Amino acid sequence: MSVSLIILAAGQGSRMQSDLPKVLHPLAQVPLVLHCVRAGRALDPDHVVVVVGHGAEQVEHVVLSEDERAKVVVQSQQLGTAHAVAQAADALAGASGDVVVLYGDTPFISEETLHALRAARATHDVVVLGFNAADPARYGRLVTAGDALERIVEFKDATEEERAITLCNSGVICASRAQLFDLVAQVGNKNAAQEYYLTDIVALARAQGLSAGVVICPQSETLGINTRAELAAAEAAFQARARQQALENGVAMQAPDTVIFAQDTVIGCDSIIEPYVVFGPGVSIEGGATIRAFSHLEGAHVSRGAVVGPYARLRPGAELAEDVRVGNFVEIKNATLDEGAKVNHLSYVGDAHIGARANLGAGTVTCNYDGVFKHHTTIGEGAFIGSSTMLVAPVTVGAHAMTGSGSVITSDVPDGALALGRARQDTKPGLGKRLMDKLRAAKAARVKG
Ligand code: UD1
Ligand code: CA
Repeated sequence: MSVSLIILAAGQGSRMQSDLPKVLHPLAQVPLVLHCVRAGRALDPDHVVVVVGHGAEQVEHVVLSEDERAKVVVQSQQLGTAHAVAQAADALAGASGDVVVLYGDTPFISEETLHALRAARATHDVVVLGFNAADPARYGRLVTAGDALERIVEFKDATEEERAITLCNSGVICASRAQLFDLVAQVGNKNAAQEYYLTDIVALARAQGLSAGVVICPQSETLGINTRAELAAAEAAFQARARQQALENGVAMQAPDTVIFAQDTVIGCDSIIEPYVVFGPGVSIEGGATIRAFSHLEGAHVSRGAVVGPYARLRPGAELAEDVRVGNFVEIKNATLDEGAKVNHLSYVGDAHIGARANLGAGTVTCNYDGVFKHHTTIGEGAFIGSSTMLVAPVTVGAHAMTGSGSVITSDVPDGALALGRARQDTKPGLGKRLMDKLRAAKAARVKG
């Protein structure tokens, strides 16, 4: 059966003390709301609707850049979670099947849990995701009778007896689209917070003879983020899991606690990740590659046998084929390096294609930017670029061609040619020593006087 997602993300998030909408704060280098969008993908949803409030345009931009089919609807006043869900009704008017409601500030929900939630719809009209809380604190409590869920009571409205319940509401709910919006429309706001509680749909459903049930997941999946401290704790939890997962997958790390992963980092087995490596979003490392200490990678792909760093920076669009070498203080951006190419020291390679086994000497720079436009550099297979060559793009150096050290290359170099683009050396015999003697004498005279 088809399914749609509603992601609630309109809450102000005032406890973050930030101008940035809460759901755009990064966790594992990805905005919070996108964790939800990506987790929800496991259900292959027909529609994704994100309900936003503060910073609507910013959130919309981020959501659409991840999923251009997503719909963003605005809840201009935050009157409660049921009111928020109701804002998605028009966007889902044509949808069939089920709806799953997720919270934009609850990033760790797993694929297995989402599938379990869907599966439970076979036996219940409304399914709520619950967890057994170590400290139930201010969570909503799930009031059950055997297998059946009778109602959810918010902490603020709960009696002492109800507060003693440790089975809590995660906020995630699943029902058919038609029943969900029908129930949500009946929710009132006569409660301690004077809010329209989504949780009230359980009692409303039961009163109409519908059934409601609970799926239980680990508490770690329901972790919600309201403060910077909670965000930092979530980041620590994510990093701990990512490191453990990488080790289990066969990645070697001498100091895993110093390696920072992004939500989507992929590393193959028998890769070596040295200390203090940071993975930004969009990095994939094939098995058997080595990322040496203090390197920073983002939007890059590194193939088998390649060695990167120490102190290397791979920026978006860096594509390294097998056995490539990118050494210390080298930056690569939007560039493909074919098999066995080497850029070992102090270089910038941007908007470029480097052929197989080409060697770029120390201090090679692709001068790709004229202040307005970016231009492309092509270096052929087996070419040898002398140290400190400036390649003024657009420019092509042919296969097996060479450039002399210190050259400024402004026009194309044919295959096999040697290009020298530097001032001819002028050597004056004896002049070095004579000049130095004169300068020293001048200094001595100054000290005396
Ligand atoms: C909610 C649940 C509670 C549950 C807890 C789990 C209700 C009434 N209560 O409480 O049972 O234990 O989550 O964390 O649902 N939002 C909107 N618009 C609104 C209100 C909220 O989009 O008008 C969004 C928020 O941005 C947030 C989510 O809904 O992502 C939850 O809202 P929040 O106010 O944090 O609910 P809780 O009081 O924590
Ligand atoms: Ca909350």
